[in-house]
Amino acid sequence: MSSDVLIASNRGPVSFSLSDDGTLTMRRGGGGLVSGLSEALKGSDLLWVCAALSDGDRGAVRLAPGGRLDQAGHDAGRLRMLDIPPATFHRAYNAVANSTLWFVNHLLYNTPTAPRFDARFRREWASYQEYNGAFALALAEEAAHGAKVMIQDYHLTLAPAMLRAVRPDVRISHFSHTPWAPPEYFSLLPDDVAAEVLSGILGADHAGFLTYRWADAFMDCCAAILGARVDRAARTVTHRGRTTRVGVHGLGVDGDALRARASEPDVEARITALKQQVGDRRLIVRVDRTELSKNIVRGLMAYREFLAEHPEWHGKVVHLAFAYPSRHDLPEYREYTAAVQRCAKEIEDTYATEEWDPLILSVYDDYPRSLAAYRLADVLLVNPIRDGMNLVAKEGPILSSRCALVLSREAGAAAELGADALLVNPFDISGTAAALHEALVMPEDERAERCARLRIAAAALPPRQWLAEQIAALS
Ligand code: F6P
Repeated sequence: MSSDVLIASNRGPVSFSLSDDGTLTMRRGGGGLVSGLSEALKGSDLLWVCAALSDGDRGAVRLAPGGRLDQAGHDAGRLRMLDIPPATFHRAYNAVANSTLWFVNHLLYNTPTAPRFDARFRREWASYQEYNGAFALALAEEAAHGAKVMIQDYHLTLAPAMLRAVRPDVRISHFSHTPWAPPEYFSLLPDDVAAEVLSGILGADHAGFLTYRWADAFMDCCAAILGARVDRAARTVTHRGRTTRVGVHGLGVDGDALRARASEPDVEARITALKQQVGDRRLIVRVDRTELSKNIVRGLMAYREFLAEHPEWHGKVVHLAFAYPSRHDLPEYREYTAAVQRCAKEIEDTYATEEWDPLILSVYDDYPRSLAAYRLADVLLVNPIRDGMNLVAKEGPILSSRCALVLSREAGAAAELGADALLVNPFDISGTAAALHEALVMPEDERAERCARLRIAAAALPPRQWLAEQIAALS
């Protein structure tokens, strides 16, 4: 049966692990995009197309007719998983999507040494084209006449144009969950690659972004690099005779669902354990993937400077820094995790005493403990170099009634939460240290008032609404 509404993303709603005896175990997929969408899709008959990411996933796909996991009896919603050859997948996902497009859009390169676009990159780019082609083909096979197809993120920038070439009848949208780079930085990409990414997205009828800032940057790139005609007032880009509408659709948190999850017994148990660990000290909390763009090292340096500047807080404050593992196939991420651990050790060596541990760093994933930390936080530190939105900045205020938010002005969330957060320049360590102090000494009535407004803003755009807007944009 073909589908009227389809969604495509690299990571799907479930993943599988393969035990030694060959048994497959299914679990829910992770990450902002997937958790938001999975919640919003409950009960819908939309078809989700994703890639197999691991050997476990590949094992499950091979046992499913046409990769349809739901038809193989898995409770995963309507889901087709693509078994893209591992080497092709690895080059497309790690080398191009995560090491190139992610780096460009988050401005992460250390330009004296990187990027280097050489013959090896060309092989990786060919794999990215092949990977996008596999998605376009699967979507073309599954889509009913006139179907709506919603393609997600930087992994799949070429798929919209590829799908349009074979299925001109379907309505296509592309959505970027990341920031978008300004033209002078986007132009680090080889000219043909930059043009292919932009015109790939312009294969869609609708190109969506999380904030006006990222949408404007995309339009600037289309004008500067493709010479496309951009109508800023109407938010349209016309290129090679086709017009794509550019939309802004913020994404927030389902407040009720999050509050319900955060009141479950496993979270209560973590609250008790954390309270025992830190006593009645004030808490500065951060929760991130160990991701270069999250700026964890500068966050720790800011805490160190705060301790140096404010000895009156010694023994009275603890920084809980939860930095969960991410993308460990990439050497930059392994090195970054080590840099985070080194910086944490320096802080401990300088300031820890028999009675006081100034910093608790954990690099292990424990979701209920993160929810417990949000509930206990006096200050939430969210200081990314650049971020599409950042849902941590929204989850914290939803679970706390008195937490002060120190937020990077480079996070998409700053557009919605900036008025009630303490905004910082993520590169300004002294400025961030000063903001941590200001957040700690903020009077109780002010923190409660700000937190109440943050909570309303954070829950204003739940994933269900985001999804409904994506579908409506193709009507
Ligand atoms: O920020 C965009 C995003 O798709 C997030 O939703 C997600 O957390 C990440 O990028 C992708 O992560 P991963 O490589 O773990 O799938």
